[in-house]
Amino acid sequence: MSTTAPGAAVTTRGRTVLVAENLGRSYHGNAVVSAVDLTIPAGQTVAVLGPSGAGKSTMLRCLAGLEPLETGSVGFQGELLSKAGSTPRSVGGRIGMVFQQFNLFPHLTATENVALAPVRVRGVPRQRAREEAHTLLERVGLAERRDHYPYELSGGQQQRVAIARALAMSPELMLFDEPTSALDPEFTREVLAVMRDLADSGMTIVVVTHEMGFARQSADRVVFMADGRIVEDGPAETLFTTPRRERTRVFFEQILGDSDPRRVGP
Ligand SMILES: Nc1ncnc2c1ncn2[C@@H]1O[C@H](COP(=O)(O)OP(=O)(O)OP(=O)(O)O)[C@@H](O)[C@H]1O
Ligand SMILES: [Mg+2]
Repeated sequence: MSTTAPGAAVTTRGRTVLVAENLGRSYHGNAVVSAVDLTIPAGQTVAVLGPSGAGKSTMLRCLAGLEPLETGSVGFQGELLSKAGSTPRSVGGRIGMVFQQFNLFPHLTATENVALAPVRVRGVPRQRAREEAHTLLERVGLAERRDHYPYELSGGQQQRVAIARALAMSPELMLFDEPTSALDPEFTREVLAVMRDLADSGMTIVVVTHEMGFARQSADRVVFMADGRIVEDGPAETLFTTPRRERTRVFFEQILGDSDPRRVGP
C-alpha cells in the first residue's frame, strides 16, 4: 500500500473529496464489501442503489470511517481516514451522516438538537450556535418548528432536523443511508426536496436510496452494488436507460416494475 494518503494529489487541486481503494469488510467470514473502488469529486451527488443485503450500508460506514477495514483504504480531503489493520481516524462532523432513524435527543428542542454539537465539539458560543441553528432550520423549512421537541414533529420534520444537525458541523461530505425509507410518501417528498436543494447548492453527497425518481433526477451519478461489489458506476441517466451489465438491467426492471409509487416518483 502507498504511504501517502489516497487522493492527496487530486485533493490539492481541489477536485476530489474522497477516495476509497479496494475496500473490503466481512462479518463472520462472509465478505460483505469486496474490492470497492470509489472516487467522489467535490460537488457531486452519488446515489448508491442495489438490492437488500448488497452491502450498501456497510460500504457507506466504511467511507465514513465507522467500520474497520479488512482491505484497502479511504482518503478524505487528501488525508488518510482509514486503512486496513488500523482504527479509522475520527473526522468528527466533517463527514455528516444521516440515517433512516433520526436519533434526535428527545429531551431537546429542534434548535437545541442542531446547536448541540457545535457547542460541545467545536466550542461555538451557545448564542451563536442557536442563531446558526435557526438559520439551518429555516433552510430545511422548519423555522416555525424550531422550539418543538421531537415528539411534536412528524417523521419528515424530524429527519429535516437531523439534516440540519449534520449541516451545523459544516460538513465537507454528506452521507445519507436511506433517509426516507421510514417515512410516508408525503414526508418523503419534503425530505427529498431538502436533499435536492443541498445537491444544487454544491454539497458533495453520497446517498443510499430506494427512491429511483430522486436518483434519476437529482444524482449526477449512480453506483449500483450487488453481492458486496460495485457492479456498475456511471452517469445516472445512463444506468437507468442503457445499463451495460445484465445484473443492473435486471435490478432496474424489477424495481421500476414495482407498484410502490415512492419508487418511481421524484
Ligand atoms: N453487524 C453485522 N454483523 C453481521 N452481519 C452483518 C452486520 N451488518 C451487516 N451484516 C450483513 O452484511 C450484509 C450486507 O449488509 P448491509 O446492511 O450493508 O446491506 P444493505 O445493502 O445496506 O441492505 P439494505 O438495503 O437491506 O439496507 C447483509 O447480509 C447483512 O446481514
Ligand atoms: Mg442498508
